[in-house]
Amino acid sequence: MTASAFPPVRIGMVGAGFMGHQHIDFIQAAPGAELAAVADPVATADSFDCPWYATTSDMLRAGDLDAVIIANPNALHVDTAVECLEAGVAVLLEKPVAVDYAESRRLVDAVARLEGRLLVGHHRRHHPAVARARAAIEGGELGQLVAVSGLWSARKEDEYFTDIPWHSRKGAGVTLINVVHDLDLLRHLCGEVAEVQAMQSSHARGLEVEDTITLNLRFESGVVGSFLASDAGVSPWGWDQATEETLAFPFVPDGVAYRLVGTDAALSVPNLAKYAYDRAVPANWHSPLSRTYLPVAPRGSFHAQLDHFIEVARGAAQSLVSAEDASRTLALVEAAALAARTGQTVDVARFRADSQGSAES
Ligand SMILES: NC(=O)c1ccc[n+]([C@@H]2O[C@H](COP(=O)([O-])OP(=O)(O)OC[C@H]3O[C@@H](n4cnc5c(N)ncnc54)[C@H](O)[C@@H]3O)[C@@H](O)[C@H]2O)c1
Repeated sequence: MTASAFPPVRIGMVGAGFMGHQHIDFIQAAPGAELAAVADPVATADSFDCPWYATTSDMLRAGDLDAVIIANPNALHVDTAVECLEAGVAVLLEKPVAVDYAESRRLVDAVARLEGRLLVGHHRRHHPAVARARAAIEGGELGQLVAVSGLWSARKEDEYFTDIPWHSRKGAGVTLINVVHDLDLLRHLCGEVAEVQAMQSSHARGLEVEDTITLNLRFESGVVGSFLASDAGVSPWGWDQATEETLAFPFVPDGVAYRLVGTDAALSVPNLAKYAYDRAVPANWHSPLSRTYLPVAPRGSFHAQLDHFIEVARGAAQSLVSAEDASRTLALVEAAALAARTGQTVDVARFRADSQGSAES
């Protein structure tokens, strides 16, 4: 049976705010999916061309769903996802998987207990440039990976914080809203992080949450890296500007979010510019570098993520971003926050063990 022989996966949307509306657009553009219902206490029934419910429970009780996409406020993620898994539907849960690592373990346990189908919305992993960069690293095209650096900086509109109060409270700073994607991707490309150091600041916006953070990372492989992020500073640098994912973030051609440095070559991502010496010249800093662009088929991460989720919902694919994986990314985010608060280097594996212990006791 070919994929098109299956009936569309009937998806319920939980949370129809900024991100929920984007997911609705992606569902409506996907032949394998159908928007079956929306649950949001604030949105109104006549906004959607499908049944609307004030609560997720009402939507699930009405039945007839194969899957849900959850894009409600972060503090509701785990409870909502567990409720949906208990109802037997597949779940695409927006990032961050939970507000903290200890809470995310509850979801990891629920997925195991219920044998649930759950994908976490770290959409960048689905971008073709990321798969190509990972293949370049794993295939030795860069030689031995030595270091990585990354930057995400974009000025959010002031209303992002004044109109939506949860955006300026614990659990919604630039680290948990934006850097969580970058750290997830750096883990995906370079492996587990062993140690993290950090400095952060809220001086630009003066809010409870940080607006700017800088991180030093030591990966278990020995690779070292740095990452700088701000939601107060104007810049063309960062994943959202460097990809044509959504019209919400205008595209900067040839943009770069990450730079990977190997003993044979360097690669910038997502534009996949590879810099290396020609065979005819000595392979050292006195020789000119040549630049080539690695070819990939153009494809947006969100569309690819939804296609993958449809396969996960049908039981035809393993989730590319499991609850366990996203939980580890969250542990790294928290370890970075602890490092920023204390000025200490944080051992990430020890941090996970200590946090899990305190959650269980
Ligand atoms: N993957 C990405 O790139 C990306 C980008 C932006 C936001 N997000 C994530 O998407 C989620 C939503 O963010 P947003 O910016 O759209 O926020 P938002 O505030 O615009 O939307 C949240 C929506 O959830 C609704 N809601 C509140 N309580 C609810 C409940 N009990 N049941 C159902 N709906 C409820 C609100 O009415 C609102 O419409 C967050 O987890 C955020 O981290 C992901």
